[in-house]
Amino acid sequence: MPHFLDLHTTPASDLRAIIDNARAMKEARNGHPKGRPDAAQPLKDYVVALIFEKPSTRTRISFDVGVRQMGGTTLVLSGSDMQLGHGETIADTARVLSRYVDLIMIRTFEEATLLEMAEHASVPVINGLTNRTHPCQIMADVMTFEEHRGPIKGRKVVWSGDGNNVFASFAHAARQFDFDLVFTGPQPLDPEPALAGLYRTERDPDKAVEGADLVVTDTWVSMHDPQSARERRHNQLRGYQVNDALMARAKPDALFMHCLPAHRDDEATSSVMDGPHSVIFDEAENRLHAQKAIMQYCLQG
Ligand code: CP
Ligand code: NVA
Repeated sequence: MPHFLDLHTTPASDLRAIIDNARAMKEARNGHPKGRPDAAQPLKDYVVALIFEKPSTRTRISFDVGVRQMGGTTLVLSGSDMQLGHGETIADTARVLSRYVDLIMIRTFEEATLLEMAEHASVPVINGLTNRTHPCQIMADVMTFEEHRGPIKGRKVVWSGDGNNVFASFAHAARQFDFDLVFTGPQPLDPEPALAGLYRTERDPDKAVEGADLVVTDTWVSMHDPQSARERRHNQLRGYQVNDALMARAKPDALFMHCLPAHRDDEATSSVMDGPHSVIFDEAENRLHAQKAIMQYCLQG
């Protein structure tokens, strides 16, 4: 049974099949009340542990509701309430959890925690965000783009802002789904060197967004960034705000995405977030559908 740890470590054909399944499951629900079980119950008799070492609204709720719709049950756990990493090794927690649950989703700080969990668990492990990546988010983002605009292959995606964990998963997605990714942001906040070759850099945001099919940004201060860096980051990133003037330079039908939570009028103005290009709430909804398909992939291939 496969883990779902990152987009570059999951075969591209599997990623495509997951998105196709997510769309089919979304269509099959046909606007039913959220608590109504799906006609198919692929997680019947399965129990899923959802472990959070960082705050979460979308990931927590979309996984929990998704498991219920597919007939399974959940345990939503806070890392700090467990022995995870302080009372015992991550490996021992992984071995023990594998005796109780059928699937583990973890949101953590260090990628090493995720990898140790996956190495020692005998059940699949899903990455619900680390300091380095956020693959579930970008599966929802690709699904959302394609719902609105058709295949993402060959399209131009522009990331404006911090070269962070969400960008990293976009970079992996660019290779796997074959789209053109441009990073525009200040040099001190460049993406990590390991991502070189997966994207292009254009320091001038106005030039970067020319011809863009999709403009994306994220918070300027991530959960793992020290609060002491806040003012410096704001000063570095102010020129990369996504506002109406920047969106006007993209293609007329360009989409705008943000994984949320957003700091309105910092990284993106409310006029963009609530404007005609924005698909941020479809993006949030699609976390549910994409993750249901990811869980089914992990448990049933
Ligand atoms: N986008 C996202 O992962 O949101 P949460 O932090 O609320 O889960
Ligand atoms: N880059 C953000 C994403 C939150 C979903 C963070 O890591 O805090």
